[in-house]
Amino acid sequence: MSTKLETIGLAKTYRETPALLPTDLRVAAGEFLTLLGPSGSGKTTLLQMISGLVEPSAGQLLIDGRDATHDAPGKRGIGMVFQSYALFPHMTVWDNVAYGLRMRKLPRAELAPAVDAALTMVKMQAFAQRLPSELSGGQQQRIALARCFAFRPSIILLDEPLGALDKKLREHMQMEIRRLHQELGATFIYVTHDQDEALTLSDRICLMNQARIEQIGTPAQLYDRPATRFAADFLGHSNLLDGVVERVADGRVALRVGDRLVPIGPSPDLPAAGAASLLVRPEAARLTSPEEGALAGTIREVVFLGADTRAIVSLGQGAERDDGADFTVRCPRDLTPCVGERVGLAWDHGRATLLTR
Ligand SMILES: Nc1ncnc2c1ncn2[C@@H]1O[C@H](COP(=O)(O)OP(=O)(O)OP(=O)(O)O)[C@@H](O)[C@H]1O
Ligand SMILES: [Mg+2]
Repeated sequence: MSTKLETIGLAKTYRETPALLPTDLRVAAGEFLTLLGPSGSGKTTLLQMISGLVEPSAGQLLIDGRDATHDAPGKRGIGMVFQSYALFPHMTVWDNVAYGLRMRKLPRAELAPAVDAALTMVKMQAFAQRLPSELSGGQQQRIALARCFAFRPSIILLDEPLGALDKKLREHMQMEIRRLHQELGATFIYVTHDQDEALTLSDRICLMNQARIEQIGTPAQLYDRPATRFAADFLGHSNLLDGVVERVADGRVALRVGDRLVPIGPSPDLPAAGAASLLVRPEAARLTSPEEGALAGTIREVVFLGADTRAIVSLGQGAERDDGADFTVRCPRDLTPCVGERVGLAWDHGRATLLTR
């Protein structure tokens, strides 16, 4: 796939404080890339430098292989959608969508077909003559999307576009955005701090943390093989056992967690000592007898989730282990563990990830 957009050492500093450290990022043509990360991690800053709304402190931006670092925003072929819909309140839906096209001096004869096509795409043709104040939040966001798509930008930047909507509408609009991405074939860069949204929508996720990229990869890569403890903790439900790597008998290694030694699978490239965390996802673990498990604990809570059940096992039975420590196991529906029951926790080594960063 050809590269649509590339940043080379792109960085932004505000009064000596980095909002984005020098960042290299490559986005393929037609890709749906999501910038995911906690508040203040630099997502909007990166997006705004791509759009041209914020001037970089250093580095370069290439679009279609051409240096676009200092191009005016209107010259980049980029459309933007924000959380606040930023519709003009005194203009009808139709005129709101037409506005960007008029600004771009689209010939009069092409204007009406382009506006109608954009409104059709978001299924809002029937609302063309309404004012924004006469629309629901979801409908307003659809118009904001139509206004952006109308001039057929080849890159579309979306900054938490669904942040103001309730959960159900959000999920509906996520499907709409996926469909629009497929229909338009444009390159999408989407900002969110909602991990489920990122997993649902993206070809790749760029996880950001403290003004830099923590990890970038497909949703499955980030979920199954997080590179750092932060990535493991941020994406999906995680059981993270923090401890110190120790050599045990016949060259094998284990993780010392408090007063317990948790076996870890064969890891030839592992440092012989040092702090590490073992990640075990709830669906990779199972309940066994206390003697058989790598860890033992007491079932504190059983949560019924429809398709399956989660047992929350408290590991804090005296000892040195922090008493707040829980371990969540996804159980098949027909298994109904009892609160208070003493259980063991087991998993296949291949489904656990040892993290040393
Ligand atoms: N105009 C500005 N002046 C000074 N500091 C800024 C400015 N804009 C952003 N920052 C700082 O840069 C850092 C990154 O901000 P940014 O808006 O990119 O975060 P974000 O990841 O989009 O967060 P959120 O999820 O809250 O929107 C923050 O620490 C922020 O305070
Ligand atoms: Mg932001």
